[in-house]
Order: sequence, then C-alpha cells, then structure tokens
Amino acid sequence: MKVLFIGDIIGRPGRNYLKAQLHAIIERYGVDLVIANAENAAGGFGITEKAAEELFSYGIHVLTSGNHIWDKKEAVQYLQKEDRILRPFNYPPGTPGIGSLVYPLHGKKVAVLNLQGRVFMPNIDCPFRTADEEIKRLSKETDIVFIDFHAEATSEKIAMGYYLDGRASAVIGTHTHVQTADERVLPKGTAYITDVGMTGPKDSTIGVKNEQVLDRFLYSMPTRFEVAKGPIEFSAVVVEVNEENGRSTAIQRLQIRS
Ligand SMILES: [Fe+2]
Repeated sequence: MKVLFIGDIIGRPGRNYLKAQLHAIIERYGVDLVIANAENAAGGFGITEKAAEELFSYGIHVLTSGNHIWDKKEAVQYLQKEDRILRPFNYPPGTPGIGSLVYPLHGKKVAVLNLQGRVFMPNIDCPFRTADEEIKRLSKETDIVFIDFHAEATSEKIAMGYYLDGRASAVIGTHTHVQTADERVLPKGTAYITDVGMTGPKDSTIGVKNEQVLDRFLYSMPTRFEVAKGPIEFSAVVVEVNEENGRSTAIQRLQIRS
C-alpha cells in the first residue's frame, strides 16, 4: 500500500496547486491513500468547511492539523460533524473534534493519529503517553497506523520517531513548513521524517509575505500576516507499507517547485 502524506497546505495558493496537480501526482506514484495537514489551508490560518470540502474533492482522504486548527471560529462546529479531519489527540479531554480515525481502504483499515509536541508549543497533554494508549487501542483494529506529529523541536520529533519505532507504520513531522532531508525507515519498520515541509508559496517566510514577518522581527509589534503569492513548493512523502504487518518498507521525499 502506498500512502502520500502532503505537508501543511497554505491557503488558496496551496489549494489551487493541488486542484491542478494532485490527480497527476496520485497517478504517477500509484498512491492508494492521501493524507494532508490542513491547519493552514484557509487563508493561511485554520480551516473552514469550504476549504476542507475542496481538498476532499481533489482526492485527499484524511486531513490532519495542529495548533492553528482553532483559528477560524467555524472550525469548532465543523470538527464536530466531519469525521475525516483530525485535531491533535493530546488536547485535554473535552476538546471538540477527534484526534484519530480508522479509514477503510480496499478491505483493509488504516488508522491515522494526530499528535502535537510541547516544546515551544501550547502546553497540552503528553504526546508520548497519549501515543502509547491510543496506539494500543487502534492496534486492536489494524496494524497500519500513520502519525502526524505536529511539533516545533527536531529533538522532540526524532525522540517520538524512535519511541514509536515498530509500533507505527509512519511518524511524519509537520509544523515547521521546511522539509528536512532525514527521511528513513527506522530499524523496526517505522517510516520517519522530521518535517515533511509545506505546500504553499515558495518565495515566502514559511508561507507568509516576507515583509510582514520581517516587520514582526524588526519591531516586535503585532502585524497582519497574509499568505504570499507566486510559484508553489509542493512537499510530501510517499510511504510504502506492508499491509500484512503494518511495517514500512520505503519512504520517498517529494519536493516539486513550480
Ligand atoms: Fe502548526
């Protein structure tokens, strides 16, 4: 089974790129399932029903997210009715939405679990202990478990990769919007990358107009952030999973610049 995991989709430029190109990418790589992080898919911050529906219509099966999932007010309502979109599982009990799901695919089941780190991030529940409990529960249904670990610090992400090696099919890092060149299959069969990168405007500061981010650094005053324009950088990985035991045999990094 081949799974395409697409890095953080940035606003309309990211969505428009997928509208034009995703079908061809799915064909070219023989992809069975598409997962994408969409926490920045609506206007660069958060998600709306309209943006999510668009992404599902382009061939994405499951959307994951992170700390920006609540940026658009309607997300709270939307997450309670849409079961194909995840928020990080380790937000405290009672938080709206779901943090994991099991997706039926060609007679098999694929579990997707969204977790968020705590280094330089909101101080939520422990992602490591949460992973222990939730993987144990999911593994009663399937051995194929994909994890989006939305985190800032490389050390926290690498630690999670080795912690879950042999217990997850893949641990895919998101959030920094910069693709790392450390993709590998860990010794016990977990595909890993520290950060898959973003799908958004390449001449930008992690998706946002350069001058607006620079102003924030120069003056430390609140500034408006808008999605940059121009050519797109598509960032993703293709993971090949052995359906019999849920272990991965390959991970390929994709970065396509338009
Ligand atoms: Fe994030």
